[in-house]
Amino acid sequence: MKNRVICDKNFLLGEVDPRVFGSFAEHMGRVIYSGIYEPEHVTADEDGFRQDVMNAVRDMKISAVRYPGGNFVSSYHWEDGVGPKEKRPRKLELAWKAVETNEFGTGEFIKWIRKAEAEPIFTVNLGTRGVEEALQYLEYCNFPGGTSYSDRRIEYGDTEPYKVNMWCLGNEMDGEWQMGHKTSREYGRLAAETGRAMKRLDPEIELIACGSSLSSMQTFPEWDLEVLEQTYDVIDYLALHQYYGGQELGTANFLAQTLDMENYIQTVKAAATVVKAKKRSEKTIKFSMDEWGVWANPADTVNDEVREQPWRRAPAISEQIYTMEDALLFAGMQMVILRNADVIRIACQALITNVSACIMTEKNGEMWLQTTYYPFCYFSNYGRGTVLETKAEGPCYNCDLFSNVPYVDHVAVWNQEEHEIAVFFVNRHETEAMEVDIELTGFACGQIKESVTLSAKDKKTTNQKDHRAVIPKENKRVAVEKESIHAELPAFSFNVIRVEVL
Ligand code: AHR
Repeated sequence: MKNRVICDKNFLLGEVDPRVFGSFAEHMGRVIYSGIYEPEHVTADEDGFRQDVMNAVRDMKISAVRYPGGNFVSSYHWEDGVGPKEKRPRKLELAWKAVETNEFGTGEFIKWIRKAEAEPIFTVNLGTRGVEEALQYLEYCNFPGGTSYSDRRIEYGDTEPYKVNMWCLGNEMDGEWQMGHKTSREYGRLAAETGRAMKRLDPEIELIACGSSLSSMQTFPEWDLEVLEQTYDVIDYLALHQYYGGQELGTANFLAQTLDMENYIQTVKAAATVVKAKKRSEKTIKFSMDEWGVWANPADTVNDEVREQPWRRAPAISEQIYTMEDALLFAGMQMVILRNADVIRIACQALITNVSACIMTEKNGEMWLQTTYYPFCYFSNYGRGTVLETKAEGPCYNCDLFSNVPYVDHVAVWNQEEHEIAVFFVNRHETEAMEVDIELTGFACGQIKESVTLSAKDKKTTNQKDHRAVIPKENKRVAVEKESIHAELPAFSFNVIRVEVL
């Protein structure tokens, strides 16, 4: 089957903000303990950070990491996670039913993120706490010294302020599952008041307010409208969260969910435009997709029935094992984020290790990489630059959820510094390879730098047992001409073609 993708050097969609290649480290299950932090591990450094994980994080070029939650943050006391470790309290953690030892906290995370060469994104507790505690935390982190909270940081060994620039005002406050869940009116007011006070303390920071937790929330998009109305002048970004499961709906429906994600973003964009107009504001709010990912089939999930178990430290929960099929939806979601580069400035794949993660670890054991690791790595390494506006023609299918779903999904990114265009494709067709002609009007193509494909004989293949079952392989079926590329994309595959352009 034939497809055509048309790009033109004069039609640019937007700059990719490097922060869209972010991730998320929540105190949840084994994300922190025996994920990124395991002092007893053979690869641990002097701070207890697993270096096998650190290397994988660096290879993924993760640009920013959100911390400490998630649902966890909504009853978290940040003070419990600072100061001498032996004095830190053991607490009952209610979001995920765990005993939180607090041996990893703010200072440890800052050390870890510096070593990972990424930026921190912090979240304040607006579930069980409010303006005052948020201010104290910000003072602890960002104020140089000479005040009670900043001096406490210095006393604990960190003389330099952390300079945390991005702050989320709570987490998923629309969700009934959230500790301290609020109505949009209650949350909007609290977020505005907290944000205003925080910016008085540190005018350099950027603030992210909670939008809806999912596109399927009953309160979407009224929640977003109300929160924007109340916080518009104070915040810089509205958060969107999106996870998709639904493998049981069949592949055609499962993979078509990227169309829902597009609709979700367009609707939030429209809500923000309405509020901007109502307020006669000059300011344009951007978005932070600060939790996104695929929710694996429960049958493929290593999951302790934690609620029925006694309280334990870091129990294994939601350890999802991703198939080839999951990797295609994951890649499709990352393409949606890039295609909305003009409005999405931050995005965090959730989570960084073990829970719906690309990187899996065994306690005292090895680390391995899921099927989803490879799309992330390729997007993050080569999806930087300017997204090109494209037009596409090709065969489509209809399914229960959507009509006219293109079999071939794509995004093209021009990296001017590297003189390179990277075109990413998902071929959703389960049995047919796809021919693609990519017209690059106005560009002079040089040589192909790399062409790889990720596929598997069986769409349910995972990397759990054979850790190299699904890995990228060279695709030789690519040819380049002066202003075009011709490629054949194998059935049911993710593909990257990188070409030199002059
Ligand atoms: O799986 C991560 C959880 O999902 C986060 O804690 C929460 O924000 C979301 O509902």
